[in-house]
Amino acid sequence: MISRSETTLRLARREDAAAIARIYNQGIEERQATFETEPRSAAQIEHLLDERGERYPTVVVEHDGQVVAWAGVSAYRTRPCYAGVGEFSVYVDRAARGSGMGRLALEGLIAACEQRGFWKLVSRVFPENTASRALCQRAGFREVGVYRRHGKLDGQWRDCVIVERLIGEAAAP
Ligand SMILES: CC(C)(COP(=O)(O)OP(=O)(O)OC[C@H]1O[C@@H](n2cnc3c(N)ncnc32)[C@H](O)[C@@H]1OP(=O)(O)O)[C@@H](O)C(=O)NCCC(=O)NCCS
Repeated sequence: MISRSETTLRLARREDAAAIARIYNQGIEERQATFETEPRSAAQIEHLLDERGERYPTVVVEHDGQVVAWAGVSAYRTRPCYAGVGEFSVYVDRAARGSGMGRLALEGLIAACEQRGFWKLVSRVFPENTASRALCQRAGFREVGVYRRHGKLDGQWRDCVIVERLIGEAAAP
């Protein structure tokens, strides 16, 4: 049998919105990744991509012509002193998890953020999200600490592990 596979990383385009929404909605449905509970539509993701524009990149990983993973960054705070701090998210299609796609997407996002002058990426991860914590650790993130009872998901308190990685100028020795 001949198998052909090609994996590419690139900046997201508006046409990727449906695939990004589909993958994000899997994570929302599983209740292990985010406090969000409402599925997103392609139109909402298109709007988000437009809003984030060139400053706050989203990258996608395509495998055999299908978008299988995405990672994106949003503003951490509006205060100018935090202009170079971004909050990231990373989501991989259920069928493609555990095959390096998350790491590729996150490393691609880090590179895109470094090009734009960001100096730090942060996120919050549920303590039970073993895959996300492993990915973050492999991608050079440090666990800063745990926010206790940071929010409720389906009526239950959830803690969050804060992760950070210095990038660009701030990562220089
Ligand atoms: C978390 C997630 C993005 C990880 O992406 P992935 O493509 O499955 O992970 P990768 O295959 O790139 O693995 C990255 C590293 O984490 C490790 N890892 C991945 N899944 C793991 C698991 N379930 N348990 C332990 N380690 C795991 C891998 O071994 C790999 O380490 P290595 O590079 O030393 O081999 C993915 O599982 C996902 O989309 N989950 C649902 C959404 C989510 O939780 N997003 C994060 C929100 S904070």
